[in-house]
Amino acid sequence: MKITPIVLLELDVLKKHQIKLFIKRDDLTHPLVSGNKWRKMKYNIIEAKRQGFDTILTFGGVFSNHIHATAAVGKEFGFKTIGIIRGEENSISNNTLSSAKEMGMQLHFISRSNYRLKNEKSFQNELIRKYGHIYIVPEGGTNQFALSGCEEIITESILQIDTKIDYWTVGCGTGGTASGMILGTKNKSKVIAFSALKGDFHTNDIKNLINDDKFDNWEVNTDYHFGGFAKYKPELVDFINNFKMETNIQLEPIYNGKMLFGVFDLIKKGYFPRGSTIVAIHTGGIQGIKGFNERYGNLIS
Ligand SMILES: Cc1ncc(COP(=O)(O)O)c(C=O)c1O
Repeated sequence: MKITPIVLLELDVLKKHQIKLFIKRDDLTHPLVSGNKWRKMKYNIIEAKRQGFDTILTFGGVFSNHIHATAAVGKEFGFKTIGIIRGEENSISNNTLSSAKEMGMQLHFISRSNYRLKNEKSFQNELIRKYGHIYIVPEGGTNQFALSGCEEIITESILQIDTKIDYWTVGCGTGGTASGMILGTKNKSKVIAFSALKGDFHTNDIKNLINDDKFDNWEVNTDYHFGGFAKYKPELVDFINNFKMETNIQLEPIYNGKMLFGVFDLIKKGYFPRGSTIVAIHTGGIQGIKGFNERYGNLIS
């Protein structure tokens, strides 16, 4: 997979606050397995092949980018794929699931209460009995192989620009992408993970994922979730549409729109010292815009 570009934004507000803001265009990794999904799947694919698996099974909600990306991995790298979906079969009409199905994924719908058992050994053994020799990837694709892939966001970016980087920013769902990045920085620069969900559980989740107390140069920001997962407010939609007009970069409203709204708001509030360099990671997820627009009316242009 190619090295993704990193671009410096030229905007008046950045000049005014003397901030250098780069966007790492991980949305351009692959048209279907985009952004952090590719980073998370890379070493899982290698491991699944190494262990001789021909089927990948994973879990997700009806709008899950991860389900969509796993289906694309299957198509691209020759795996059968099975998606265990939280919810009703009639949600198949949505774009994420119908295109996962088109790419060959077998979808299996389960109730919310059964879905909660997804990480339990007995539930996974039942899946193995049912589906045979399967490589199981957790919800959101977050496991130790995923963290290794996400570390490379940092190592790759550092080689691309010759400015000292002070801050890295990224949207946060399970915290896997941020955790890999935290490991990648080796404590030399700060990672800010912007929560896309309501709640303050991310700090603990990330601590558990990195499992090493010496990495402490990071924080979770919970101020820009806009009411919760996949929720929005008109100012978020305006920000995304204006950002596209000014930079020609498309953001989605679930993760990257919220994260960059937060970054610009913090810049305006003077959170980042003048002279700081920030790299914001565009983690892709653009395929989700169609579903968002179908649900709320064509808000994102
Ligand atoms: C486009 C996009 N960005 C960011 C994230 C958050 O990643 P993580 O779950 O690793 O925190 C996701 C989540 O799956 C995503 O789909």
